[in-house]
Amino acid sequence: MENNFTYAAPYLGRQSYELYSEDEHATWAELVRRRTPQIEQFACREYLEGYQLIGMEEARLPNLKRISEKLMPRTGWSTTPVTGFLPAPAFFEMLANREFPSTTWLRDRNSLEYTPEPDIFHDVFGHVPMHAHKVFAEFLERYGEICATTEDPDVLEQLGRLFWYTVEFGLIRQGGELKMFGSGIISSHGECTNVLEGRCEVRRFELDAVLNTTVKVDEIHKVLFAIDSFDQMYEALLQAELKFFDAAPK
Ligand SMILES: [Fe+2]
Repeated sequence: MENNFTYAAPYLGRQSYELYSEDEHATWAELVRRRTPQIEQFACREYLEGYQLIGMEEARLPNLKRISEKLMPRTGWSTTPVTGFLPAPAFFEMLANREFPSTTWLRDRNSLEYTPEPDIFHDVFGHVPMHAHKVFAEFLERYGEICATTEDPDVLEQLGRLFWYTVEFGLIRQGGELKMFGSGIISSHGECTNVLEGRCEVRRFELDAVLNTTVKVDEIHKVLFAIDSFDQMYEALLQAELKFFDAAPK
């Protein structure tokens, strides 16, 4: 990758695709198989379109370079291998450059449902299909740009909630039905079932409510938010920018 990242440079990695074992490919296939029934029924249409567009394969782990080749002409995004968890400035810098950091390791067969840290299933299966959607793609880039301009921990915490309740755990109403697009719901049977079985209150997306709702990373969600459209989500980001930085959106 030719990018001259300041903060992200030490975290860039590579995907040695040929080193994945048949066992790892089989684990990937099992993860996809387990998620497919709920995805087909409850994922939003933009996710499903993106899934096709990036050429996700059920039987083989995704090749990040090939995925980027499909995404780039569509929205200018790439999926870039990183070595692990990124500190905030590195993460924001990559988003602002339309490069989504993806891990390359895969959880093992004994922990299909949960990993404490994101793996390639969460990052690619969960996140990347949405990067084919133009408004969502704009949102992510702008989000990175905005967050990169501040080090204020209170502001970053609130902006983190906006990310959490959209990109990670977002829901959307489409045709009167509740659909999902957040990677944490897309990639988790438990989180998805929790919503579908009505054990989680789904509130209308409203910026201030989202900014004030604390994130609990180690509990299944009791409250989530549903947007009406991706335009609404993008508008909310511009509103947040105005609110925190008192500057007109550029
Ligand atoms: Fe994520």
